[in-house]
Amino acid sequence: MSVTFALLLLLGQAATADPCYHPGGRPRFCLPPVTRLAGMAASCPQACALSLGADLSPRATCNGSLTLALGGPFLLTSVSLRFCTPGSPALVLSAAWAAGGPWRSLWRRPAWPGALGGPEKVTFRASPGPKSSVLVSHLHVEFGGRAGLMAAGVRGRCQCHGHAARCAARAQPPRCRCRHHTAGPGCESCRPSHRDWPWRPATPWHPHPCLPCSCNQHARRCRFNSELFRLSGGRSGGVCERCRHHTAGRHCHYCRLGFWRDPSQPITSRKACRACQCHPIGATGGICNQTSGQCPCKLGVTGLTCNRCGPGYQQSRSPRMPCQRIPEATTPLATTPSAYSSGKSGWCGEP
Ligand SMILES: *[C@@H]1O[C@H](CO)[C@@H](O)[C@H](O)[C@H]1NC(C)=O
Ligand SMILES: *[C@@H]1O[C@H](CO)[C@@H](O)[C@H](O)[C@H]1NC(C)=O
Repeated sequence: MSVTFALLLLLGQAATADPCYHPGGRPRFCLPPVTRLAGMAASCPQACALSLGADLSPRATCNGSLTLALGGPFLLTSVSLRFCTPGSPALVLSAAWAAGGPWRSLWRRPAWPGALGGPEKVTFRASPGPKSSVLVSHLHVEFGGRAGLMAAGVRGRCQCHGHAARCAARAQPPRCRCRHHTAGPGCESCRPSHRDWPWRPATPWHPHPCLPCSCNQHARRCRFNSELFRLSGGRSGGVCERCRHHTAGRHCHYCRLGFWRDPSQPITSRKACRACQCHPIGATGGICNQTSGQCPCKLGVTGLTCNRCGPGYQQSRSPRMPCQRIPEATTPLATTPSAYSSGKSGWCGEP
């Protein structure tokens, strides 16, 4: 029994313009082309005698019935069956999303006797248009009587949810060339950098592209948070992940603890956040004010990094109290401007 069975490689044709975008760059609904997904053919003398048991190939069995595995989920557009003799047997066409079913009946057709001039080819067509959504990975045809099946052909397109115009249909699973910043074999999710809105399939009325999260150029990934999206009134739900350059926050829009925001740099700069540099002796801790950079100084200590004694204080040898109040007796001296200047030189700025 020499029956051949063929799956065809389906690759979208290179197009000069991207069908998924308007010429001006706005995204638009797009579909991969309808292509031949599976087929079998036999020359008539040896045609599959359907009442006989026969195992055609791992992908197709012809045993009073015909099962076709498409190699992945596809949007079905048509199934054609051609018989050796005029008149087609009664048949039931069923589809399943997975190998094991459940099977869903798509089409039931009564026998059409050849004596009445019945057709030798019958074709099932899924309802046309982009809304047609018979998503199948396996097809099954059950025949009501003996019939020589000469050929079967299945046509359809990859399920790309309106986000791709090209598809590698023979890849397993079929792989859409996703646009609109979507990702996944069927463009069923948003790219990690574009999760500010929930993923949605494109429609001819709205392309529903995935939108970028605003992470001030400090993060490459974000995640969608539906609660935040709801609270924002449906405007933004992205939360940046792994903020770099010492930034933190939902949009990587402020500085991490221990860093402060340098006002001379834009927030998008890699240098937007500077380390606190609090003096190990003069400061009580390492965490400075995130807007001013001011470190928390010990009593009598002053300066942004707490590296010198304030007015009325002088350097001591105690690391616990590095600046001590100038004694009463020298107070008249301390009130003179020259006495304060000693503090300005710094007491521990140098090693
Ligand atoms: C073919 O059909 C017969 C009878 O219905 C059944 O016993 C047999 O298991 C079938 N073979 C295959 C390969 O499906
Ligand atoms: C940080 O410094 C700013 C400006 O100097 C000030 O307004 C703010 O209160 C300070 N924050 C804290 C927590 O001290």
